[in-house]
Amino acid sequence: DTLDAFIRGLPKAELHLHIEGSLEPELMFALAQRNRIDLPFQSVEEIRAAYAFSNLQDFLDIYYQGAGVLQTEEDFQDLTIAYFRRLKADGGVHAEIFYDPQTHTDRGLPFSVAADGILAGMKQAEDELGITSRLIMSYLRHLSEEAAFETLRQAEPYLDRFVGVGLDSGEVGHPPSKFANVMKASRERGLLINAHAGEEGPPAYVYEALDILGVDRIDHGNRALEDQALTRRLVDMGITLTVCPLSNLSLCVVKDLKEHPMKRMLDLGLKATCNSDDPAYFGGYVGDNYIRTAEAVGLTRDDLATLAKNSFSGSFLPAADKARHI
Ligand code: HPA
Ligand code: ZN
Repeated sequence: DTLDAFIRGLPKAELHLHIEGSLEPELMFALAQRNRIDLPFQSVEEIRAAYAFSNLQDFLDIYYQGAGVLQTEEDFQDLTIAYFRRLKADGGVHAEIFYDPQTHTDRGLPFSVAADGILAGMKQAEDELGITSRLIMSYLRHLSEEAAFETLRQAEPYLDRFVGVGLDSGEVGHPPSKFANVMKASRERGLLINAHAGEEGPPAYVYEALDILGVDRIDHGNRALEDQALTRRLVDMGITLTVCPLSNLSLCVVKDLKEHPMKRMLDLGLKATCNSDDPAYFGGYVGDNYIRTAEAVGLTRDDLATLAKNSFSGSFLPAADKARHI
């Protein structure tokens, strides 16, 4: 209908996307066959049926298992270009995507396999689809800070091709402060700083992301709304939040999409953006996130345009490129 057409016609950037989370069951099956890997599922339908999560950890267990079919550079390139084709259909023109090096190096792949494959897919997306992108490597927060330092060492030859670092995986019990030193070292190497905070973790973790890590963006940030002073600070600082409504619904961060805080965030003056997180697992790409959220909480066309504008102003593009898109 017309809202759908309006949203898909709105040029937008996606700022919160885990490339491993764009692995559709069909491609998972195809790669399992290509690499002769046994999956504990007999069909695509059986895989989809397993995607009923009650919290973040439930999801992470199945997401790390799914990533096991990714073995070669070609696999990572195929994964990446498939995502960009979906983004193109949703009116996306730019993306800043996360990947988790440790998910792959910990199962024996050389650091270069995922990095080279994803970067090749990004190049292909620019050449064939005209979509620009940047790559962010995320540290797994359930692992040690020393393991993150080892990842930063392995990344050394790639640092000119990474725009930043992120912090993801199980949040509760693994506060941002656990990674203070490696994030400082990452910043000193020219990388911008992201952290998932306030998805399941308390407002205190958002404070730590700001005060201890000095983040350039907050991923999710929902629970910051529980603290008025923190909310005001995020507004005053103009910090971009990469919000993911269908992820929040799938992982029970909200009980119903009608209760999603996206409208409230915009009304408070927070720089919220709308993103898909792990679209193959959460039931929709960036366009669906805009549409279903708009329908559920009553976003106006002005709100939707603001979300799209925020996706460029909050991006890591140079100022001239931001201006060109806004
Ligand atoms: N939260 C934390 N870790 C993740 C997520 C998320 O939403 N998606 C992929 N890794
Ligand atoms: Zn995420």
